[in-house]
Amino acid sequence: MRVLHDHYFKKAKQQNYPARSVFKLAEIQAKHRFIKAGDKVVDLGCHPGSWTLFASETAGANGMVVGVDLKQTEHLPRPGGAPIHWLCHDIMDDTLVDELHTISPRFKVLLSDLAPKTTGNRWADHQQSMRLVRRTVALAERVLVPSGHYLGKLFQGEETESFIKELRGIFAQVKVIKPDSSRKQSREVYALALRYSPNSTGNR
Ligand SMILES: C[S@@+](CC[C@H](N)C(=O)[O-])C[C@H]1O[C@@H](n2cnc3c(N)ncnc32)[C@H](O)[C@@H]1O
Repeated sequence: MRVLHDHYFKKAKQQNYPARSVFKLAEIQAKHRFIKAGDKVVDLGCHPGSWTLFASETAGANGMVVGVDLKQTEHLPRPGGAPIHWLCHDIMDDTLVDELHTISPRFKVLLSDLAPKTTGNRWADHQQSMRLVRRTVALAERVLVPSGHYLGKLFQGEETESFIKELRGIFAQVKVIKPDSSRKQSREVYALALRYSPNSTGNR
């Protein structure tokens, strides 16, 4: 049986984050330091808001974060944190790009912890996850600055390898990461893609 109130859940509550998922991003950030002070960050699938709050604290007062989700989300940034724009939007909807461009012409980092509604059918869940994650890369290509960074969650399956290969065509460095705080039984992993290179040979 799944332990619902595990160590990370309690730690998130203690530190006033709305979800335990914050520790996955915190772990990846502690190791790779890809979000820097002053960065403009987009966080796709932001509800209930932990990653956005963490990104805001990391980017600091000179940065800026946009959190996007189907669900309405609203928190004040922590003291010293970057200002946050909360958007209630479907990431599949094309008007999102215009809305992001209105806030800022370009962003340094695009995060995605998007997850489809899982069905328990491994193949179907993988397909839904790939549909979302491919969309996040298409969005990254439209909003990231050259040499910007991407972090996206996916549920592993038969298309993982080809997806990672595609990422390698447009980013200088790509790693697949399973954070310690990600539940062992979950098929989720994170693709960290550093230094967007729009003119590289593999670009689509
Ligand atoms: C695992 S939760 C994200 C948790 C978040 N990173 C945090 O730390 O609080 C995944 C989110 O993806 C959102 N989502 C799924 N499909 C979406 C879509 N098409 N557009 C926008 N958000 C979507 C869900 O509403 C859900 O809130």
